[in-house]
Amino acid sequence: MNKVSPIGVFDSGIGGLSVLKQLMRFLPNEKFIYLGDTARVPYGNRTPEIIRQYSKECTKFLIEKGVKLIVVACNTASSVALDAIRSISDVPVIGMIQPAAIAAIRATNNGKIGIIGTRATIASKSYSNGILGLPDSNKVELISVACPLFVPLVEEGWLRHAVTRQVAVEYLSPLIENKTDTIILGCTHYPLLLPLLNELMLGVTFIDSGEHASVASLRQLAELDLLSGESTELLKKPEIKFYVTDVPTQFIDTALRFLGFATEHPEIVDISSI
Ligand code: DGL
Repeated sequence: MNKVSPIGVFDSGIGGLSVLKQLMRFLPNEKFIYLGDTARVPYGNRTPEIIRQYSKECTKFLIEKGVKLIVVACNTASSVALDAIRSISDVPVIGMIQPAAIAAIRATNNGKIGIIGTRATIASKSYSNGILGLPDSNKVELISVACPLFVPLVEEGWLRHAVTRQVAVEYLSPLIENKTDTIILGCTHYPLLLPLLNELMLGVTFIDSGEHASVASLRQLAELDLLSGESTELLKKPEIKFYVTDVPTQFIDTALRFLGFATEHPEIVDISSI
């Protein structure tokens, strides 16, 4: 493992591509290996034990590929499996929770912070505990809402659909009533709903967990002197290798929606035997 080794990124499926997009923004000179556990997605409705087991298998796969950093680009895995992942990793691991918790405390003016995520993320209280463990958290008021229907709606591409709007109004009503001024998007899929969410909650600051985890990754690599010194030429295609545990029918279209550019076909791998 050295400066030119790739960064390993994994998610339960394709959603982590929204995180990869942010990583590429902040770390344009890096190579990436992306693993989507598409055969076992979603993680968000599963038990912590199973999520830990799957996350450890993803981690081992990336370590075998010689990555220099692992980014757990899944809020659910970051919420319940980060310690388990770190316990088997000999490279640094960045999760989604802590960077977004810090950003939310900094962003709020009235101390009312909303957290939205999958059922497993909300049940784990990872974001609440992350925020309450920070200095300046004594005056905050937190409201957490699980929004499980957002994931299939985003995968269907219904980003501005009337049904999605209705679902969002239902989920967000406790946050609107409470006059929450800052909301953590605690799921890989939610940044794609930003245009709709901004329309429904004018003036609210939305915290993209992938964006803040990317800044944390940049800092971590800089501190360890592991940033790639190789500068990519302008317009050079980013170097990303995609692995999945199954190829979903709509992979290319969905990936395009999350990443903003067409991906190469992913390679299928079996990670359960690692
Ligand atoms: N990637 C997951 C997350 O960020 C959402 C999809 C799933 O439930 O696996 O929580």
